[in-house]
Amino acid sequence: MELSRRTVVAGAAAAGLTAATIGSAQAAARGRKPTKELFGTLADGTKVHRWSLENGGTRLKVLSYGGIVQSLEIPDRHGRYANVSLGFAALDDYVAKSPYFGASIGRYGNRIAGGRFTLDGKSYQLSVNDGVNSLHGGAKGFDKQVWDVEPFTNGSHVGLHLHYTSVDGEMGYPGTLRVKVTYTLSRHGEWRIDYEATTGKATVVNLTSHVYWNLAGEGSGTIEGHEVAIAASRYTPTDSGLIPTGELAEVAGTPFDFRRAKPVGRDIRAGHPQQVTAKGYDHNWVLDKGVTAKPEPVATLRDPRSGRTLKIATDQPGLQFYSGNFLDGTLVGTSGHAYRQGDGLCLETQHFPDSPNKPSFPSTVLRPGQTYRTSTIHSFGA
Ligand code: BGC
Repeated sequence: MELSRRTVVAGAAAAGLTAATIGSAQAAARGRKPTKELFGTLADGTKVHRWSLENGGTRLKVLSYGGIVQSLEIPDRHGRYANVSLGFAALDDYVAKSPYFGASIGRYGNRIAGGRFTLDGKSYQLSVNDGVNSLHGGAKGFDKQVWDVEPFTNGSHVGLHLHYTSVDGEMGYPGTLRVKVTYTLSRHGEWRIDYEATTGKATVVNLTSHVYWNLAGEGSGTIEGHEVAIAASRYTPTDSGLIPTGELAEVAGTPFDFRRAKPVGRDIRAGHPQQVTAKGYDHNWVLDKGVTAKPEPVATLRDPRSGRTLKIATDQPGLQFYSGNFLDGTLVGTSGHAYRQGDGLCLETQHFPDSPNKPSFPSTVLRPGQTYRTSTIHSFGA
């Protein structure tokens, strides 16, 4: 369901808010030019800004560091706002210990086995940062780079263009990659991400977004009651290092079957060997629709308590559903609450992990003269 201005006002009334508050809720539902403020300063003196934008009832805060979604607020069924994206209040925490909270991931989302691949007969050794494997672009991926941010308003849309140039050889990847990520809030409050990249040499690319969702509000506890649906009949089982074996396994009759919405917690303790390896769900679902020219609906997330819903549409062939298994209570989030296992979940639209070493998977190769283009749309409701 799209969140209309009427929903905001009706919700505000139901929540017993005053006429003045309702007035500002109405104003908030209209797009405004993004504004920026200083968020922090990196050790080398680089200033990091936080951009705030709002449209159609959705409020987004984005850092120039990592293209990080630092906060994403949406209303519940009573019009009450909550930040539904895990994160930190301070830049230092993002630099020191973030498990990719809200980040823009590149050059390659998820794992590449041994941090190695061969392309056109040449072998490349990447930065290795997850045991023997390379995860999310290596030790200093796009999530830890400072992006150039350019705000825009376009008709009823508001947004940010984020630019980053990854030089030839950075983290071991061949070819200078010029990347543009566009975050747009539509007048219906949808958050759309458009990725674009070009390269100077043949390379591999797999860009994604690493928001940890908790539709009840970050810091409010477990997502095990959230209902997830994924339009996928198969998934890619992994070895003990979470590298796909290459098999496309049927979800039917397993805890991996989310073709009909079910609570995350329903089968998470089923003891399936694949769950034991991953400490829960941390797998790539093979979307039934495959690669498509335009974004198509692939997943929904719903918190029955608040009524908040998220619908995801993408043109990508895969979706990594990660149930926050490695959160262990040692990170204190934006509102001052510790995040424990399962206090947030990720739904990362992507190409399959380790595709550069799996010729049977859809290709992630980008060549000079080609433009990498993919889009994902997040629609919110209550
Ligand atoms: C991966 C997890 C990893 C997490 C990092 C996810 O995309 O699938 O295995 O631990 O990112 O926080």
